[in-house]
Amino acid sequence: MNIEDLQFKRHRRLRQSAFMRDLVRENHVHTDDLIYPLFIVEGEKIRNPIISMPGIEQISLDYLPSEVDELLSLGIKAVLLFGVPNEKDEIGSGAFHDHGIVQKAIKTIKQHAPKMLVVADTCLCEYTDHGHCGVIMNGDVANDESLEIHVKTAISQARAGADIIAPSNMMDGFVVAIRKGLDEAGFKHVPIMSYAVKYASAFYGPFRDAAESAPQFGDRKTYQMDPANRREALREAHSDLSEGADFLIVKPGMPYLDIIRDVRNEFNVPIVAYNVSGEYSMVKAAALNGWIDEKKIVMEMHTAFKRAGADLIITYFAKDIAKWLNEEK
Ligand code: PBG
Repeated sequence: MNIEDLQFKRHRRLRQSAFMRDLVRENHVHTDDLIYPLFIVEGEKIRNPIISMPGIEQISLDYLPSEVDELLSLGIKAVLLFGVPNEKDEIGSGAFHDHGIVQKAIKTIKQHAPKMLVVADTCLCEYTDHGHCGVIMNGDVANDESLEIHVKTAISQARAGADIIAPSNMMDGFVVAIRKGLDEAGFKHVPIMSYAVKYASAFYGPFRDAAESAPQFGDRKTYQMDPANRREALREAHSDLSEGADFLIVKPGMPYLDIIRDVRNEFNVPIVAYNVSGEYSMVKAAALNGWIDEKKIVMEMHTAFKRAGADLIITYFAKDIAKWLNEEK
């Protein structure tokens, strides 16, 4: 057999040098794509490391301005805020107080750096003593009764200056209820980034340490989605869009790239991948053991989100990625 007679394709022509590969690369991660989560605690001079999330801390309000300065200097333009209140109660009333921890954090950031985009996570699990994302009736989270509290929470966050409302509670109708509430309260211009496709995932474990929001009984399976389901994701995304969502989040990220692709193919709004706490912790743990090359793994993961069809990525790696991208420039 003469090798010259074979009619194979030479794909390696486009891989032969770094510049050539740069030229034909289809997907890129940009600092503009990244949203960095922050956990805000009450009190002063607090930087509490989250043991299960190396590199991530709960911080108090007084550290927020310097934190935001650091993010801006790295080119990160959006943060996602989670409040960790001192006091919790049955209905999570700390979530909608005008002087609640998240409302204070929003005001602090907007006063210090008005351009920084503040995304407020709208949920109750950090604020309820039982750790569920709504009010409990007959042993389960009551849908319609919970909606009212989510609406109040979203309005108080918008009033404090939040640029984007991100409801993560997975109650039915949460988008239309919050949209209507925001509109009536004079916040027609505030977009909703809906956690439209949120699975009942074990990957949220470390987050519940960071946000102190683990359910005290049962689990979230009656409101978050079954990880086995794919078509259901499109039903969820469809209803949230028709209810007025401006962005759609798919969460978790890495194990759900097929879902990100499905949602991307079906809808034209910005799609957000959430690289959640458990995904972060696994990479950090392996990296700290010297078992993997952290930078390469993290960049590959985030490029995969873009390739799957995500426009934006909520990620605890945002600072690391921004530093690496800046180094390469
Ligand atoms: C609140 C909320 C959760 C996460 C984001 N918003 C936890 C949950 O639903 O239990 C998880 C984020 C992460 O794991 O990084 N409902």
